[in-house]
Amino acid sequence: MGASLMLDELAGDVHPHLARLRATEPVSWLPALGGWLVTARDPALEVLRDAETYTVDDPRFSTARVVGPSMLSTDGDEHGRHRAPFAPPFQAAVVRDGFEAWTAAEARRLVGQVARNLEARDLDERGRADLRAALAGPLAVAVIARALGLVDDDPDRILGWYRVISAGVEGVNAGREVADETRRAVADLRDEVDRTVAEATGSMLAEVAGDGSLTADEVFSNTAVVMFGAIETSEGMTSNALAHLLGDPDQLADVRADRSLVEGAVEESLRMEPAATLVDRYATRDTDLAGVDVRAGDLVTVSLAGANRDPATFPEPDRYDVARPEAHLQLAFVKGPHLCLGRHLARLQTIAAIEAVLDLLPDAVLDGTPDGDPPGARGLVFRKPTTVPIRRGG
Ligand code: HEM
Repeated sequence: MGASLMLDELAGDVHPHLARLRATEPVSWLPALGGWLVTARDPALEVLRDAETYTVDDPRFSTARVVGPSMLSTDGDEHGRHRAPFAPPFQAAVVRDGFEAWTAAEARRLVGQVARNLEARDLDERGRADLRAALAGPLAVAVIARALGLVDDDPDRILGWYRVISAGVEGVNAGREVADETRRAVADLRDEVDRTVAEATGSMLAEVAGDGSLTADEVFSNTAVVMFGAIETSEGMTSNALAHLLGDPDQLADVRADRSLVEGAVEESLRMEPAATLVDRYATRDTDLAGVDVRAGDLVTVSLAGANRDPATFPEPDRYDVARPEAHLQLAFVKGPHLCLGRHLARLQTIAAIEAVLDLLPDAVLDGTPDGDPPGARGLVFRKPTTVPIRRGG
């Protein structure tokens, strides 16, 4: 069955394909990926928790070839050394104290602009605003620039680096050399990181560098991973959460009536559509995974979207339910040593975005496209809708 699955099917409406694979061969060889695809939750957890058998530390891992080794590309003690100095500033309480008020204000500022545009009808030809472009994207960049303490937090510069460097990573994935343009963007970002370390006393980057356990090269590579790990994923997480909630009038009414449901709505959206949906590992030895013989060196790709709709853990897995009791068992931030460092900051900003929309756009509803339904999430690795179009009148 896996043999017949093409990459564009994995990038499009993937969930029915994942459900079929999970039911028949939850660890399935996909020629299109050149590796195993894991679509059930138990084997997914087995892979993610056992970094000795399933490692990220492999020359095929393209990010490391562009920005250098980092916490994302190492395992064992080396991984711990890369990650440790970045861990304290990303702890839940530290993030809450440092970011909750600021992020809420920034989300309200962005949604306030949307509300004024809707009022002035300064919108697209169908009278709609796009919450991905106007809220989810800019909030993601602003939050991570502030978290790192970058001396130059111009969002266009940050996004420029992001686009060039992630295109460079994709190029390496496709077998090309690191392009000159990519090298130039890496060098510019490196200057920015070095300047922040030198000039922004008290910033996260200055503190991490001051810790002394990472070289200047390693402070840079890990910063690049933190920064780029935050931008596309957070934009996707907020876009998906808004699309799920604003697209479901009944559940939206429940959440409007009881704001304590917002957190569950975000968790359930992470379950339904994890913004980063595929994570890669490489087998270090021959092993058995859910009855399948995996060979040393094999690529093992975990479908977080597959695991998150495993009916053994999530009854009626295709149903969006903001009050689902087991939503917190979702794997959007993985489990094990590579558990997302930014998960508290990411949750905080998506919650802030939803609260701001509920407060300042009290009658907003998701609008369809000219062809019908609102755009669904798409993408092979990162999944989100192309737009989150809203109009007034709910
Ligand atoms: C403020 C926003 C974010 C920051 C700063 C951030 C940062 C990071 C970092 C540094 C790692 C690497 C951890 C390690 O390897 O030890 C990581 C892992 C990960 N993050 Fe995030 N992240 C953010 C948001 C998100 C969001 C919104 C998602 C998805 C909804 C996400 C999904 C993941 C996943 C799946 C991994 C594991 C990758 C793997 O195991 O190969 N992250 N994140």
